[in-house]
This record gives sequence, C-alpha cells and structure tokens, in this order.
Amino acid sequence: MSAAFPRRLLLSAAVAVAGLSTGLGALAQAPIVIKLSHVVAPDTPKGKGAQRFKELVEERSKGRLKVEVYPNSQLYKDKEELEALQLGSVQMLAPSLAKFGPLGVKEFEVFDLPFLFKDDAAFRNTTQTLGMELFKKLEPKGIKGLAFWDNGFHIMSANKPLHHVADFKGLKMRIQSSKVLDAQMRALGAIPQVMAFSELYQALQSGVVDGTEGVPSNFYTQKTYEVQKHTTLSNHGHLAYALIINKKFYDGLPADLRAVVDSSVKDATVYANAIAATENQQALEKIRASGKTTIYTLTPAEVNEWKLALMSVHKDMEGRVGKATIEAAYKAAGFVKPQ
Ligand code: LMR
Repeated sequence: MSAAFPRRLLLSAAVAVAGLSTGLGALAQAPIVIKLSHVVAPDTPKGKGAQRFKELVEERSKGRLKVEVYPNSQLYKDKEELEALQLGSVQMLAPSLAKFGPLGVKEFEVFDLPFLFKDDAAFRNTTQTLGMELFKKLEPKGIKGLAFWDNGFHIMSANKPLHHVADFKGLKMRIQSSKVLDAQMRALGAIPQVMAFSELYQALQSGVVDGTEGVPSNFYTQKTYEVQKHTTLSNHGHLAYALIINKKFYDGLPADLRAVVDSSVKDATVYANAIAATENQQALEKIRASGKTTIYTLTPAEVNEWKLALMSVHKDMEGRVGKATIEAAYKAAGFVKPQ
C-alpha cells in the first residue's frame, strides 16, 4: 500500500478539523438575537423607540446582542404576539396596556378608564407607581415588565360628527381587547367590536366598523383618516405600552448583557416618552392638512357631557380590575370625579 493514502487521509482530516473549529469560532461569536415584534408603523413613537432600543443595545453590547425589530404586525397580530412571547418565538414586545386581558392579567385595563388622566404627568405618575406594581402579575405568565412607553390621548373618528353622546348611538366602534373599552363604548351607546390593529384600516374602509378610537400617530400612519370623515379631539382615554420581555430569556442572559438591556431600556424609554407628544401633534397637523377629515375639538360642556355618561364605567369595572386597583389609580392620577 502506498504511503500517499494515509497522508491524504490525514490531510482531509486536518481540513475537516480546521473547518469545524472555524465553525465553532463563528458560533461562539454569533450574537444573541432579540426579536422585538410590534403592530404599528416604524414612523411612530413606538416604532422609533424600538429602533432606538436596537441601536443602543447593539452599540453597548459591541455586537454580542442583535435586536431584530419587526413592525406592522409583520410577524404576529395583537393576540398572537403575546402567545409568541410566552413560547419564546419572540423575545420582546411593546403591546398596549389594553391588550393584557386575554393573558389573564386584567388589572392593566385600569389604565383604560375613561377620563382617568387629566394630563400626561398624571398618567406617568400612575405607571411609575401602580404600573410598576402590576408588572409583578406578569411574572407567573413567564413575562417580565421592563418599562412603560407613553403614546398620548385617545381621540375618536367616524363618518359622522361625534360631538354629543347621542351621536354614538348604534355605531360599530373598533376597540382593543380591553373590557373597560368595551364598557366605555356601550356607555356611549355604541356597539364595540374587538379587532386586531392590523385589520383596522380595511374594516373602516369596507364599513365592517363605523369608527374607532386611537391616537393621531396611528391614524396618520395607518391612513385611517382617509376613510373617516370626522375626527373628534376628545382626549377621553390614554394609550400606553408596556415594554416586556420573555422572563426565561432575560434571566438566562449573561449578567453584563442583562445590564446592557436594562440601560438601553432606560434610555430608549426616555426617548420614546420625550417624542410622543410632538409626534402625535405633528401627525394631527398632517391629518388636518390633508383635508380628508374634519377635526373637531369638544367644548368644555361637551367634555362634561361625555364624562358624566362615562363615569358609570368606573363603578361597573370594579369587578373586573378590582376596587383597590382603581383606588390606587385614582390616588396616583389625582383623579377628581366630575360633578
Ligand atoms: C391599537 O390596537 O389601537 C393600538 O394598541 C396600536 C398600538 O400599538 O399603538
């Protein structure tokens, strides 16, 4: 037997080992991926906050962490994304506080009580106190709450003017899954319809629903104002998000990378909260400039009419979100019942 054979064998074995070790080296350096899924457009306060978080994490971890942001319900719709987070198919989300009911955590719906917050400061004080406390309720579900992102006050739209409570009679209004929002629409005389955010434009355009509540940044980027002749600046509710992460994933991160996530959350939160008011104001101005919808601001007397019609919701929802939770929210928000 020629001596060349074992040499060739040795050579190919060496090549194989070299290949393997290169592969292992690449593996060792492969970044840990955080998939962050959300339902709105990139050009919104939440979309921009998510992008800022990605940039901060990738820079601070020196590439050891990679954040993939999936906007516009690209991966999952409202309800599915929470299931995906629990299963670990995505690692982070930023759903609205009105979407935690299907997860079995009803208390976050306290943030949907109509006219609970007189301004953004009242809202923020409530998230920083009661909200932080409520984050503990997510842990048995395998989820860790990281921060709250504000997105300003809800307004209403439909194809008819919405000035008085009576104007809502019989209108089919799209809502998020919160039972408080369901009760709110019923108290106004409307027929609430829970629907995923990604289906909203189509539903309004085709007349499956007549109207919706929402924030200007979403009305603008989803183009819903193009198919809603009337918009009312009512500020009756507040939209906010909880930035959340799969707890097992978070706990399993090396301590230094967990610190990177924490510091990036902190700074992205400051950023997202700082731009929300301006972004919504600019979106409203663009909607106004389009001339496609008439924008109406409620008079103080009309605001009071809406408030009086909606106060029953606070009482009726005690059984759903808990009396103690409502009282804690009142205290933090400095809420005063309308007369
Ligand atoms: C909605 O469904 O109306 C909002 O929660 C969408 C969002 O995330 O801003």
